[in-house]
Order: sequence, then C-alpha cells, then structure tokens
Amino acid sequence: MHDQSDARQDLLERGYSRRQAARIMGVLGAGVAAASAGTPLWAQRNDGPDEGNFPKVRIGSNECWTGPFPVAQAEAAKIIGHANFYHPGTEVTDFKKTLATIEGVPADHILPWPGSSDPLSRIVVAFCSPKKGLVTADVSYEQPWGTAEWAGAKVTKVPLTSDYRHDVKAMLAADPQAGLYYVCSPNNPTGTITPIADIEWLVANKPAGSVVLVDEAYLHFSHAKSAAYLAAKRDDVVVLRTFSKLFGMAGMRLGATIASPALHEQLMRYDGKRMSTNLPLPSVVCGTVALTQKALIEQRRAEMIAARDYTFAHLKKRGIKFIPSDANMFMVDWGKPAKGVQDQFMAAGVGIGRNWAPWPTMSRVTVGSMADMQAFCAALDKIMV
Ligand SMILES: Cc1ncc(COP(=O)(O)O)c(C=O)c1O
Repeated sequence: MHDQSDARQDLLERGYSRRQAARIMGVLGAGVAAASAGTPLWAQRNDGPDEGNFPKVRIGSNECWTGPFPVAQAEAAKIIGHANFYHPGTEVTDFKKTLATIEGVPADHILPWPGSSDPLSRIVVAFCSPKKGLVTADVSYEQPWGTAEWAGAKVTKVPLTSDYRHDVKAMLAADPQAGLYYVCSPNNPTGTITPIADIEWLVANKPAGSVVLVDEAYLHFSHAKSAAYLAAKRDDVVVLRTFSKLFGMAGMRLGATIASPALHEQLMRYDGKRMSTNLPLPSVVCGTVALTQKALIEQRRAEMIAARDYTFAHLKKRGIKFIPSDANMFMVDWGKPAKGVQDQFMAAGVGIGRNWAPWPTMSRVTVGSMADMQAFCAALDKIMV
C-alpha cells in the first residue's frame, strides 16, 4: 500500500508544485485518491474475481444469496430506455425523499453514493489527519483503517467487549482527541450489535469537533435500531448505508449517507457534488423501490435467520464453537488455523470467508440461502470427521 510520503512524491513527480501537492494531500483533496486507498476488498476475498474461479457456494463475502426484489428490478429495467438523459426525471430526489421518509429525517440529510466504500473513505479523509486519529473496534471492518493510514492518521484499535459490542468507553479513553470514532453495527465480521444507548453515550461524551460514524451496512438483517435520528439532530454524526447486503445490489453499487448538510459539504468539497448526484439510474431506481418493500424486507430477513438458525443448530450438535450473530455472517472457531480449513472448504466447492488477525483459528462465514447453508454443513461433516 502507498504511504503518505509515496503519495506526495507521486504528486510531485506528476508535475504538481509542492503547494499544490500539499493541498491535494490535505483534507480538501485527498479523498480522490483515498477513496481507493483502503485495503481493496477483493484482495481479502476468496472467490478470485480476476480469475473467475468462483466456488459453487459463495458464502465468503457477505453478499446476499439472491438479487434485488423483482419489483425493484422491473422498475430499474424501465429506466434504461431513458438513460440518454443524465436525469430523465426526479430519480435522485425521489431516492432521497423515500429514504428520508422511512428514516424520519429531513430529505436534505440524505446523499446517495455509488456504494458505501467511497463515502466511507471520504469520511475518514475529511475528519482524520496526521493530527486527528481514527478510533475503531478490533475486530471490525478494516477499510477505514487503510484509508486513515494512507492519510497519515493514527489508527487506534480497541478490542470488542467480552460480548462482542464496541467498547465505547474504552474507545474514547484510548484516543480522547480523535477526529473520527468508527462504530460498525451490526459489526463486520462478528454480526454483533452495539446497543444504541452505547452509541448515544459516545456521541454525548466525545470531544467537540470530532465525528461519530455509524456504519449500518448490515442493519436490515437485524432488528437493531438505526442511529439515523442522531444524525438528524446533530452536525457530528454520520450514518452509512449500503444496498449491497440485504437488498442484493452489490454489483449495482448504491449506498447512502445520512448526515447534516454541513457535514455532507465536507465530503464533497472537491467534486462539486458530482459523485453523489450522477449515479447509475437503474441502481437509484432499484434502491428507491426496494426501500419501500417492507414485507419483502421482513421476509428476506426471516429467510436469512432460518438459514442461520439451521447452521447454528448443526454447529452446536457437532460441538463447534461460534459467536452468535444478529446479521448475515458469523465467526466460527475451528480450534486450529482457519486458513487451512478455509482451503479445505474451497476444495469442497464452498467458499467461506477469511480469518481476522487477532483470531487466527476463526473464519467468517456468510449466511447464504438455506441450500447454501445445507451445503456448508454437509462439507463441514466431511472435513471435520
Ligand atoms: C461494514 C461494511 N461497510 C461498508 C462496506 C462497503 O460495501 P459497498 O461499497 O458495497 O457498499 C462493506 C462491504 O462489505 C461492509 O462490510
């Protein structure tokens, strides 16, 4: 990975003056490069997108086992005929209004993005710096760590509590002057929820000028309360959403941030809002329709929970330890190096996830369809004789 001095050197070699390079490396412009500076997610995956050697059962990357709701797909398909216009109608506004109504926040607090990875890196670049660090739980989603390192910001990692919540008091104590406190709830890779009361405590006690980022990528798979109401009443809380998970739209690239207009301004200072308004229309329309499908959302969540319960019952029966989860993933402890077990599953056509550094004997497994989880359990029976 490039470090900050490499990036500065690169800018100078490309003909920027020192002053221009400093400006680009600063909060105003660093997001352009930083959006891609986190550890690339495909590099963490086991399903080799470059080679195309996908396993038969893909439960390694926390994707949904099925695509967008058919009703949303149908509306998305219709807009393609009008895609000669940047904005055939009010698609982006409709998206904002729909999400705002569902979350009970003002429409000017919603910004759509092409997925949530881009705004995640922008938020890190906007609020962290060599003087203001990032505080994260460990284990958690690692993309913001890579971006913070690139920006020359200190990354402070605080272990989860014994029941796998973010330890918000320890997070604040570990760096009381941080620029950004990152809370992923439900957390990737544990699927565990940090209670909203803990998030409220962090928001109330953090230093003025710092920001709390609540990444709710997996919220729809749980029954947890969103932190959107905090983003609606404060200037220093941002909620991050993606349509890559329950909504089955990972390949369509749609995400959203919920934050005050003032906070949003800080994420868009260099690109004049283009990134968050010129979006692929089928994705925007698909997302808008999907959001309103209350019964289908509940049905998909219930389907995932049934497949997860089935898997947990099997693991229990076999005496294999796992961390109970509220989302579409869980950590399972093999009691031996996880990499070898992951390879054995792969050889059996089942692509499970990787391990996280502090837990070398545990793998992350995504909850797929019931058929996927039956295949996982059958492969497990063969591997763990
Ligand atoms: C916690 C979390 N946040 C953000 C993302 C980024 O997803 P996307 O860019 O597809 O919205 C992911 C992807 O796995 C994730 O797990």
